[in-house]
Amino acid sequence: MPTHSTNSLFRCLLRWTLAAATLAVLIPVSGCRQDMQNQPKMIPQRESRFFASGRSVRPQVLGTVARGQLDADRYYYTGLIDNKAQDAMPFPVTMTVLRRGQERFDIYCTPCHSRVGNGRGMIVERGYKPAGNLLEPRILQEPLGHYFDVISHGYGAMPDYAAQIATQDRWAIVAYIRALQLSQNATLQDVPAAMNIQTLAEVSQQMGYAPSFPQGWTLPALTNVPSAGDMIPDAKLPGTNQPTGPEAANHGVAGKQSRAKGTKK
Ligand code: HEC
Repeated sequence: MPTHSTNSLFRCLLRWTLAAATLAVLIPVSGCRQDMQNQPKMIPQRESRFFASGRSVRPQVLGTVARGQLDADRYYYTGLIDNKAQDAMPFPVTMTVLRRGQERFDIYCTPCHSRVGNGRGMIVERGYKPAGNLLEPRILQEPLGHYFDVISHGYGAMPDYAAQIATQDRWAIVAYIRALQLSQNATLQDVPAAMNIQTLAEVSQQMGYAPSFPQGWTLPALTNVPSAGDMIPDAKLPGTNQPTGPEAANHGVAGKQSRAKGTKK
């Protein structure tokens, strides 16, 4: 039956043609990456042919300031006027400001300066370079802007805290330092007449502490405490990895003690 065999030959051909056509469509589609790979975008610092200059962006108009970066109040952002620290707060000090300052001071400064600011914080007790005693006469006389500057840029062995502490909070800490200094040198005359004042001895007695409590304590000597030097691997091997920055000076009391006794980590 010729009709039948012609018919099946035709169907067979049609099937092959369809398969080939499907393949012909699929192959280029799968090889083509027209999705997210080719976006009409500019990559910073990369050449572009969009502008004649070859830049991908226009140069900034002179004097342009990004939103939120105006920093017009120079004193607020630096603590300096004509490069000199000033003894003034850039905003009024309220109890809320002082509480915030106390909270931030306790978080960021006490590890080195201690809660009362005498520079005997826990890290210093463990061998870090002695931190400034915020109650000593020279530092006491420094203007507020100096404290702000020290927090913002660091001072000697002290690292800066500009990245960790927002401008507003740095000033709150500055205000709290003054409160701390006052509190540590206060006399009875500084307290308003109508206020009832108790001595530390009276308070500690009420709280059930030993009578010797207000007399100050002698801290036990440090033993077996690793110093900063002990914590730097290979620091003691000659010619290797010797600290050269501020930490070079940090082989303090604890380090000397443990080395003198020959104790190991
Ligand atoms: C990692 C330890 C460390 C921390 C944390 C630290 N300091 Fe200091 N600070 C020091 C050291 C060390 C010095 C003494 C630097 C020197 O004299 O070389 C110092 C000195 C100072 C001084 C005295 C500067 C002067 O005029 O002599 C002030 C003020 C001060 N720090 C404030 C702060 C405040 C506020 C904070 C918290 C935001 C803080 N420090 C956190 C280590 C620290």
